[in-house]
Amino acid sequence: MSSSARTRVVQFGLGSIGLMAVKAVLGRTDLELAGAIDDDLKKVERDVADLSGLRRPSGIRVSNRPQEVLGVKRPQVVLHATQSGLADVFPQLSYCLEAGAHVVSTCEELVFPTVRQPRLARDLDFLARSKGSVVLGTGANPGLVMDTMALVASAACLDVRSVRVERIVDASTRRESLQRKVGAGLTRSEFRRGLSKGTLGHRGLLESVHLIANGLGWDLDKVAEKVTPVLSPRSMKTEFVTIRKGEVAGIHHVCKGFAERKEKIRLDLQMFVGVKKPGDQINIKGKPDVTLSFEKGVAGDEATVAMLLNMIPAVLEASPGLRTMSDISVPRFRA
Ligand SMILES: NC(=O)c1ccc[n+]([C@@H]2O[C@H](COP(=O)([O-])OP(=O)(O)OC[C@H]3O[C@@H](n4cnc5c(N)ncnc54)[C@H](OP(=O)(O)O)[C@@H]3O)[C@@H](O)[C@H]2O)c1
Repeated sequence: MSSSARTRVVQFGLGSIGLMAVKAVLGRTDLELAGAIDDDLKKVERDVADLSGLRRPSGIRVSNRPQEVLGVKRPQVVLHATQSGLADVFPQLSYCLEAGAHVVSTCEELVFPTVRQPRLARDLDFLARSKGSVVLGTGANPGLVMDTMALVASAACLDVRSVRVERIVDASTRRESLQRKVGAGLTRSEFRRGLSKGTLGHRGLLESVHLIANGLGWDLDKVAEKVTPVLSPRSMKTEFVTIRKGEVAGIHHVCKGFAERKEKIRLDLQMFVGVKKPGDQINIKGKPDVTLSFEKGVAGDEATVAMLLNMIPAVLEASPGLRTMSDISVPRFRA
C-alpha cells in the first residue's frame, strides 16, 4: 500500500492502552503513525517505539505540546486514551477537532456523553460539525461488551422486553491501573473513601445503560447504580498488588434502567482478583429470547485497543459530529 493511501494517525495518551495502540499501529500497513502526545515528563522526547517495548526506533518522539503536534502533523485521525471524564478531556478533544482531525477516544463518559455532560456534548458536537470531523467514544467496556454487543444481538429479535448483561473479569489478568481502580489490596474503609471521592471504581456502566436504551428507542424514567467491594477469602498476590485475607479483591457494580416501573436493563459487572470463572453473557428477553456468551470473557485491554483501530474506517465514513456506537456502522475488524 502506498504511503498516500495510509491513514495518518496521532496517538494522544501513552499509558498502558496508548502504548499498546502505538504497537498495533506500527504493525499495520494501512496506518501511519505521525505523532505521539503525552504530558508525562518521563516519556517526553523518548522514541515512542522504545516506550512501547519495540526494538526498532520509529523516529517519532513524544511531545507534550498537543497543538503543535496536531498543527504540524495534520493527522486524519487521533487515537485518544488519557482520562475518563469528559470535562477533563474536553480541551484535548478540542485541540484535535480544531486541527481538523477525527477522534476515536477511550474516554468512558464520551461513550454516551449527553447523560452527565449535556452542555459539553453539545459544544463538542457543534465544534466537530463545524470542522467536518467525527468524534467517537468507544472501547471494550464501555463501548462493546456490555452495550454495543447487546444492541447487535437485538437485531435477531422482533421485540425486546429486557436486556441483561453479566461480565465477570479476572482483574489479575488486567493492567495495573485497572487493578488499582477496582481497589485490589485496599481495606474496606480505604475502598469506601476512594469510591466517595470518585478515585475508584469502574466508569461507564451508566453510559452503557443509556447507550442500550437509546439504541433500542426506550425512554428510561429511572437509573439505579450500586457498587460493593468483593472481599478476598484468602491472601493473594498479582504482578502489581498484594491482597490480604479480608481486604478488597475488586468490585461488584450493578446498574439498572427502568421504564414504567419495570426493570428493562440490568448490567452486572464483577471485576476482582481471584475470579474462578470469567465470562460475558448477554440475555435478551423478547421475541425470541437471545443469549450470547463469550466463554472466558472478552480480553478487555486488547479489545479496547482493537476498538480504537477498528473504528477508524467507521469514523472516516461517518457524517461529521459527535457520534455514539449506536449511530455508526457495525464495529468490525477490516483486513
Ligand atoms: N472504554 C474502555 O473500554 C476503556 C478501556 C480501557 C481504558 N479506558 C480509559 O482510557 C484511558 C487510558 O487508559 P490507560 O490505562 O492507558 O490510562 P493510564 O495508564 O492512566 O494512561 C493515561 C496516559 O495519558 C496521559 N495523560 C493524561 N492526561 C493528559 C493530558 N491532558 N495530556 C497529555 N497526556 C495526558 C497520562 O500521563 P500522566 O500520567 O502524566 O497524567 C498517561 O501517560 C483511561 O481514562 C481509562 O479509564 C477505557
